[in-house]
Order: sequence, then C-alpha cells, then structure tokens
Amino acid sequence: MNTLTRKGIEKLVPYPPGKPIEELERELGITGSIKLASNENPLGPSPLAVQAIQEKVKTLNRYPDGSGYYLKEKISDIFGLAQDQIIIGNGSNELIELIIRTFLSVGEEFIQAYPTFLVYEKIVTGAGGEAISIPLSDFRIDLAAILKAINPKTKMIFINNPNNPTGSALSKNEVLAFLRTIPQDIVVVLDEAYIEFVSDKEVANGLDLLRHYPRLIVLRTFSKLYGLAGLRIGYGFASAEIIDYMNRVRQPFNVNTLAQAAATAALADSEFVSETLKIVRDGLDYLFDQLENLGLEYVPTQTNFFLIKVPMGGKKTYELMLKEGVIVRSMQSYGLGDYIRINVGLPEENERFIKTLKKVLNER
Ligand SMILES: Cc1ncc(COP(=O)(O)O)c(C=O)c1O
Repeated sequence: MNTLTRKGIEKLVPYPPGKPIEELERELGITGSIKLASNENPLGPSPLAVQAIQEKVKTLNRYPDGSGYYLKEKISDIFGLAQDQIIIGNGSNELIELIIRTFLSVGEEFIQAYPTFLVYEKIVTGAGGEAISIPLSDFRIDLAAILKAINPKTKMIFINNPNNPTGSALSKNEVLAFLRTIPQDIVVVLDEAYIEFVSDKEVANGLDLLRHYPRLIVLRTFSKLYGLAGLRIGYGFASAEIIDYMNRVRQPFNVNTLAQAAATAALADSEFVSETLKIVRDGLDYLFDQLENLGLEYVPTQTNFFLIKVPMGGKKTYELMLKEGVIVRSMQSYGLGDYIRINVGLPEENERFIKTLKKVLNER
C-alpha cells in the first residue's frame, strides 16, 4: 500500500502536455506543423498586450503589484463589480487550486460532470477531496443528475460552461433553477473560460448570476479570447466574503508584472477581440460545412473548439495526423475514444486540417 502520498494520488495520471512542436518536427523530419489541440487563439497574442509587455520589461527587478490594482480596476469598470469581488490568478488554473485549498477539507466531496476539464479532479484529489463524476447526457451537463448526487458530504460543484471538451452550454434558466434548488451552503464554481465565444443569447452568464447565489464563484481567463495562454493569467468574481477568504490563502505575488500589464491592455483591445470572434465563427462555418461533405458527425459548439467522430477512433487519427504535421487532441483520456477535439485555426490551418483528414481517411 502506498503510504508516501495522500490517498488517491496513485490513481492520478500526469497531464500529457506533449512535446514542444520543434522537437516533434525534428523527430518526424517535418516542418511547418500546425497545432489545433489546446483551444488557443490562432491569431497570436493581443497586439496591445504585447506592447504593454515591452513597456514593462524594464521594471522586472521589482516584485509585481501583489494587489493587482490596475487590472482589477479595469475589470471592475468593465463588469460593474467592486474591486473586492475580483481576484486574479496565475491562469484560471491557479484560481481552481486556490478555491479548493480555501474551501474543501480532506474527505469532503465535490461534484463535476464527466467528461469535463480534467484539471478539477486532479486538484481535488491532490488536496485529499473526493471527486464525484456525473456523466453528460447527450453531450450536455446533466444538472438534474448532479442534483440527485448531492449528499451531506458535498462541499462544492464545478460547472464548466461552455463545457470542455464538448462545447455545449447551459442556459440562464437552467442554471438559475439549479442554483435555487441546491442546498445554499454548497460552493458552486462556474468556469467560464470560453464564455466570450458564445453566440447563443440564452446561455448563462455568471456575472448575472452572482446576485442570485451568494456562494457562486465565476472563473474567466485571458488564455483564450485574448491569446495570452503562455503568460498565465486568469480572473474570478465572487462575493467580497469569498474573495477575502481566497486572498488569505493566495500567495502575495501570484501574478507576475508582465501578465498584469498585458491583461490590462488586452481588455481594451476591442479590435483584436472582434477579429478573434470573426475568425472563430467563420472557421466553424467552414469546418462544419466540410465535415458534412465528408459525412462525418460533429458536436455543435458554443466555443472555439468542437468534437468530431472519426471512423478509426481518436487515438489512431491523432497519431496519423501528427505524422502529417497536424496536431489534434485525441479524446481517449476523456472517455470519448471515438472522437478528436480540434480548435478553430487560421483559414489556411483549417484548410490544411480538412485536407489532411481526407488523406488519413482515404489511406485507412
Ligand atoms: C475549461 C477550462 N478552464 C480553465 C482553463 C485554463 O485556463 P488558464 O490558462 O487560465 O489556466 C482551460 C484551458 O484549457 C479550460 O479549458
């Protein structure tokens, strides 16, 4: 028996980050490969963010602003929340970890959908909590089944809306009815990493839900829409009480100087935001059209990524496409072995994806 680690850690699998593209290309003897595997922004980082980073580089001898003053001020202006209702993190991943360290005690349970973002379970298990996973119903989060799973040990519920990896989203009415029904002492985390890509006006928006449920925490990120995944910065909204507790656990300099400056500038980069949304929507139209022509099933999405059902299974498709320099995500580790997930790329990347998929299907 393993007596070295916390209970449950032996069952966790390290996150498969993949090799750097340069290393893969060297091994496979190819160049010019494209990556559609991590739901990133294909346009690059926001230009205003890049400019802000360049201006801030000279101050790197100093520790960052531990209060995140200017960024929180900007977020507060945009979303109409008080600054003490906002927290920033080293990616929203850090905020997930901070929430669990602040609110979940060893042996307490959290409920999530399955499949969903794999990081929740990893962090909960690492913190000595118990993860309860409720299967999706027709690729959607099943709130009725989550409700039934609630028991006296339930401390938290994580809802990813829209959900990664399915791209499906819950409506305002669904989430509101759910929040009104559950025991009011449960902490509910609404991870909205992809909320800005949503086109359906009925989809829930955590900002509007805060006043309906005091223990709601909403998470957002600069990694996707603003193209700052490599910088690691995300933010969260909640009641001042919840944020105060999280601030007690938070490390003082959790978000670096460049990330704070870049994120503040990115929030004002409306041109980049519009360009990103356009490229994603046009890209989805193109890709869906092409997949329909190929007779392949896909799952409709509210985000910048989606699932495709592939005849030879996700893992094989991933391996064959990788050899052609097109990196997609196999959904095997998410329990969806028949699927791959791709994000929308630049128009030429989308075309290359389709061309390569056709080739791989024909050679089968
Ligand atoms: C659902 C979900 N939440 C959070 C994140 C992580 O965001 P960040 O880069 O801000 O840590 C991701 C990234 O893939 C995600 O898919």
